Amino acid sequence: MSQQTDQNRPGGPAPVTDDAAGAQTAAPVTASITTLGVRGEERDDFTKAESKRLRRRSLALLGSLAAPLKLRLVLLGIVVVVSTAGTVAGPALIAWGIDNALPAVMDQNDWVPAFAVVGTYIVVAVLGAVLTAWYTVLAARISQAILFDLRKRVFLHTQRLSLEFHETYTSGRIISRQTSDLDSIRELLDSGLNQLIQGVLYMVFTGVALVVLDPTSGLVLAVSLVPLWFLIRWFQKNSQTLFRSTRTTSARVIVHFVETMTGIRAVQAFRKESRNRDEYGGYVESYRVANTKVFNLFGTFDPVLVLIGNLTLAAVVIVGGFRIVGGTLEVGALLAVALYAKRFFDPAQELAMFYNGYQSASAAMEKISGVLEERPSVPDPAKPTKLADAHGKMDFDDVVFAYNAGKVVLPAFDLHIPAGQTIALVGSTGAGKSTLAKLMARFYDPTQGTVRLDGVDLRDLDTQDMRRAIVMVTQEAYLFSGTVADNIALGKPGASRAEIEASAKAVGAHEFIMALPDGYDTDVNKRGGRVSAGQRQLLSFARAFIADPKVLILDEATASLDIPSERLVQEGLETLLADRTAVIIAHRLSTVAIAHRVLVMEHGTIVEDGTPADLIAGTGRFAQLHAAWRDSLV
Ligand SMILES: Nc1ncnc2c1ncn2[C@@H]1O[C@H](COP(=O)(O)OP(=O)(O)OP(=O)(O)O)[C@@H](O)[C@H]1O
Ligand SMILES: [Mg+2]
Repeated sequence: MSQQTDQNRPGGPAPVTDDAAGAQTAAPVTASITTLGVRGEERDDFTKAESKRLRRRSLALLGSLAAPLKLRLVLLGIVVVVSTAGTVAGPALIAWGIDNALPAVMDQNDWVPAFAVVGTYIVVAVLGAVLTAWYTVLAARISQAILFDLRKRVFLHTQRLSLEFHETYTSGRIISRQTSDLDSIRELLDSGLNQLIQGVLYMVFTGVALVVLDPTSGLVLAVSLVPLWFLIRWFQKNSQTLFRSTRTTSARVIVHFVETMTGIRAVQAFRKESRNRDEYGGYVESYRVANTKVFNLFGTFDPVLVLIGNLTLAAVVIVGGFRIVGGTLEVGALLAVALYAKRFFDPAQELAMFYNGYQSASAAMEKISGVLEERPSVPDPAKPTKLADAHGKMDFDDVVFAYNAGKVVLPAFDLHIPAGQTIALVGSTGAGKSTLAKLMARFYDPTQGTVRLDGVDLRDLDTQDMRRAIVMVTQEAYLFSGTVADNIALGKPGASRAEIEASAKAVGAHEFIMALPDGYDTDVNKRGGRVSAGQRQLLSFARAFIADPKVLILDEATASLDIPSERLVQEGLETLLADRTAVIIAHRLSTVAIAHRVLVMEHGTIVEDGTPADLIAGTGRFAQLHAAWRDSLV
């Protein structure tokens, strides 16, 4: 309650919404309702049935988040009702004091009612303060618990989703799920909802107290509700579009900023600065215009609200004044009635604001529930087959694969790799080599047919066992924050320093690691600990080797290495691949020397398959490639 919902005021923190963040990508593959339009902007043209489903989906999510907090919610409800009733009791006590206790003192010198009413007033005030404090803490705890749960769910769920999801759902969008969307839900829970509950209760209790105390004044208030209702409707209708436009324009500003700064090398290399300046200037200007419009809206709303409140107060006092003259109303009662009439309008502005907080939070909730509804396209098996000791035999039987329906990448694929064989896979760009690797490591499931390890369909294999048996190393060797040793040990949690060093030595990484400021304990994110692209690849090699998988797939894993380093790796490779199945994808044909078998792939099919010696001796594609490569070396 301490924080106001600034988000909805112009100039408040700008949530990054989907509007621009995901503009270049397609909609999530498996979501049942696409919440994004063709260009990636948020859709608002949902059919009735779709909106109903979306709402039901986020309500179900909210229900599941609130379920464990049921008791605390009930307690919260009781506390808020009692504390609001206490606050509202004040004016009625004052009225009673003036009309009954005061005459008793003056006429009969009887102080008891006066002390009683003052005492009650103090008790009610203190109780109200204590309950309000309790309520604040209670509400904050509940909202924190809900957010904690939601944050964890989104993280764990996104982490579990398959590569297919991550290749289509941009990181920008997944980041805004975890940041600005959760933020707008937090804003609503922290302040908006409190204001709504307290505001509505306050208005209801005040209205009831007014009617009970003096029905005639209640009637005056009822009349004032008519213009109030129209004002709030007008505000909501206009604010909805205006607030949406501040959100979209501010998201555009942020996205443009982030894109420029992440691509700063390309920006400077291609002198894109002045074009950016104009574009960015345009975005900032439209954000400013949108904000100005919101200010103008408040410029009308706030004064009209105050005016309605004051006119109502004046009407209540005038009507009351006449009745005092006529003897049908007492002074104390008029004071209380006037106080109630004045206070009645206090929460109105917050209620109007709540509507906006609610809009953005429910949009956020819909998007988050959409992510949570995604199912991994590569699901864990229902009845996993354990495979403690894999041999490494791999088979592709009648495999057909397409990333999206319509564009088949592997039309009809059969491949049998005996355990322990080292394969060199070559072929032109876009032939489908990486696709094959991804199917082997089960980052995707084939559209038709089966991929087997030791005769077991990968889809039935225990995920842990499968990940332990098959490891893929790609060109993008990712280093996590931590030390060099930590990064290598990722391949085998709990590995000893000796094991880590042995694997680094095996791939030829030991020398450069020792040259780093703190050797194996160098932090890879610190200045001086920064390693080059090739060194990163050596580290990811060491990581793969320490993992000691039965099947190792290297997808251009040596592409960033210079010739001496690659040779070093290759020497290591020969010993390390000795008792493993390996598929090495490389454009540099030096790898072929250590392979037992070479596969040449074109347009998703294997066009040549044989020993290196046989293929080189022949007249096929590989013989030509190899001749050209050999010539390039001299
Ligand atoms: N995530 C994806 N979604 C849709 N299509 C994809 C995806 N990844 C690859 N493709 C398509 O599949 C085809 C094969 O791509 P793949 O990455 O397997 O080629 P490659 O042989 O590894 O090429 P390179 O030598 O350039 O790495 C290409 O036509 C590519 O456009
Ligand atoms: Mg590739």
